[in-house]
Amino acid sequence: MILFDVYPLFDINIVKGKGCHVWDEQGTEYLDLYGGHAVISIGHAHPHYVKMVSEQVASLGFYSNSVVNKLQVKLAERLGKACGYEDYQFFLINSGAEANENALKLASFHNGRTRVLAAEKAFHGRTSLAVEVTNNPKIIAPINANGHVTYLPLNDLEAWKREIEKGDVCAVIIECIQGVGGIRMATAEFLQGLREACDRTDTVLICDEIQCGYGRSGKFFAHQHLGVKPDMITVAKGIGNGFPMGGVLIAPKFKPVYGQLGTTFGGNHLACAAALAVLDVIEEEKLVENAARMGSFLLNELKKMPQIKEVRGEGLMIGMEFEQPIKEIRTRLLKEQHVFTGVSGTNVIRLLPPLCLSMEEAKEFLVRFRNLLA
Ligand SMILES: Cc1ncc(COP(=O)(O)O)c(C=O)c1O
Repeated sequence: MILFDVYPLFDINIVKGKGCHVWDEQGTEYLDLYGGHAVISIGHAHPHYVKMVSEQVASLGFYSNSVVNKLQVKLAERLGKACGYEDYQFFLINSGAEANENALKLASFHNGRTRVLAAEKAFHGRTSLAVEVTNNPKIIAPINANGHVTYLPLNDLEAWKREIEKGDVCAVIIECIQGVGGIRMATAEFLQGLREACDRTDTVLICDEIQCGYGRSGKFFAHQHLGVKPDMITVAKGIGNGFPMGGVLIAPKFKPVYGQLGTTFGGNHLACAAALAVLDVIEEEKLVENAARMGSFLLNELKKMPQIKEVRGEGLMIGMEFEQPIKEIRTRLLKEQHVFTGVSGTNVIRLLPPLCLSMEEAKEFLVRFRNLLA
């Protein structure tokens, strides 16, 4: 059997990681400014994470959601405290798409409606509803195109209000910093306006914090820069530092019903141990503050570079837009300077490093990047 060939791959086999560095099988070191697509939050192979995951798998890796799982309860308490949503409820699944799928489903159970508003250029995942709210016709299969979604320009508050005020919208889903869409940020005025319109019409406001959340923006959640509390917040990627996990933070007004949501693997013992280790390290090493500090340093330095048309972002979620397509720059950055970065569309390079990026590593990145652009 061969692999189903859906990924255009770099011919590099990464076999080892430590902090913000990875190594290939030839022993070549790379600076990881991509974090395996914003997944590595506390750094590769963090000793505390390795210890907690190893100890957990040695005692109990998995048991089903039909019994008490005290690790889930502890995780919900810890996360509630860490992000300031102690009165919310937490539902655990295995990926970002699943988190959005469940959030939208719960919204529809809540108000009985089926229409969703999503932003132009939004990316919310690849399962049926998650892909339908994703604004990319190339990845929406005919079976997913069920006419639930209206896409509207980010920050065009009047357009969103017009739709919400029709009274038939189930949910509004927003990435406060669009990832795949090219590091485009929602404004405070826009999000606050959405909140008011949603409150007036019993429309559910969902913030997809799968990429921009969990400390990446320099606050625990990106929407916390904008002074609004969503009804649901979806998380994944950095929550498990590579262990596949997703979650939905759910406001108190949503009442749980036995059997309405469920999952086999979600919130298993091993996943919870990984997520608890992540929260320990985020707190112990003050990684949210570090993301804010290192992010403003990098944003400042990158804005001085005349070769870049525009630098956008918040914390360690940075987009560099070039006049020209960036494919060649990104490939040379990887092959010649040994730096991993991400991409959005054709002209934007995305930086999504682990949140533990040090000043030395940030400066090293700038040296390698300047070498390339010189
Ligand atoms: C904002 C956002 N939402 C949802 C997803 C989907 O997450 P997953 O690939 O874990 O299903 C992604 C993945 O890139 C994302 O960036």
